[in-house]
Amino acid sequence: MALFGKKNNDNNVQFEILPKNIGIIMDGNGRWAKKRALPRSAGHKAGAEVFRTISKECGRLGLESATFYAFSTENWKRPKEEVDAIMRLFKDYLLEAKSDITAAGDMKMKFIGERDGMSKELLELMDEAEEDTSEHCGTTIYLAVNYGGRLEICDAVNKLIAEGKTNITEKDISDNIFTPPECDLIIRPSGEQRLSNFMLWQVSYAEMWFTDKLWPDFKPTDLHKAIIDFQNRGRRFGGV
Ligand code: IPE
Ligand code: IPE
Ligand code: MG
Repeated sequence: MALFGKKNNDNNVQFEILPKNIGIIMDGNGRWAKKRALPRSAGHKAGAEVFRTISKECGRLGLESATFYAFSTENWKRPKEEVDAIMRLFKDYLLEAKSDITAAGDMKMKFIGERDGMSKELLELMDEAEEDTSEHCGTTIYLAVNYGGRLEICDAVNKLIAEGKTNITEKDISDNIFTPPECDLIIRPSGEQRLSNFMLWQVSYAEMWFTDKLWPDFKPTDLHKAIIDFQNRGRRFGGV
């Protein structure tokens, strides 16, 4: 269900065949700031604004779900000052998430990634945002924070072992990962063409869409372009 109905600016997106789960790697904040001689934190601030805009656009288009990669398990390697700035921006987002998301319609918010390593304060705010939106039935926005694709698979396997499973199947893993088991479309801005440990299980037949634009410059029209491109690809899943 599209939240606000179809607008002319969605440039020929075919609403009947939307991708079910889009994965977006929000990359290029640092380079965006560097180009403007600003601190990297300014790039992350601009990137957070774009996340707000694009997540709402996913809701408006009526996507089933979209997963946004905000902070990887490897991003802790960055200078403490940068990590602290990212976590502060995350907190700011969470503090306004309820009113912001509710104002945008009936999107559901979920956080995926490791809880270990996140502050108690952030964990509480994350739980609150999930609870506050749990009854919503529009687009599910998964925000991947302290997330690693390999770790997600290991967690699923360990959970199954703890339950006493001995012969683990693909379905078992699909049922025990954080997001829907399939990702249809991966979008990565910033010119990099790699997954950087994002949704490794889910991407087995995902279409990939790359742009040289940096994330803070990413616009709803870029999302439309990616979706239209996806809708014009021949997906065979190994068949003919
Ligand atoms: C993405 O932007 C945000 C995070 C990984 C947290 P970057 O900070 O990686 O920006 P670049 O790739 O250095 O430009
Ligand atoms: C991937 O970006 C992680 C996020 C966007 C959150 P990185 O900037 O960390 O990836 P690499 O290091 O270029 O592969
Ligand atoms: Mg990067």
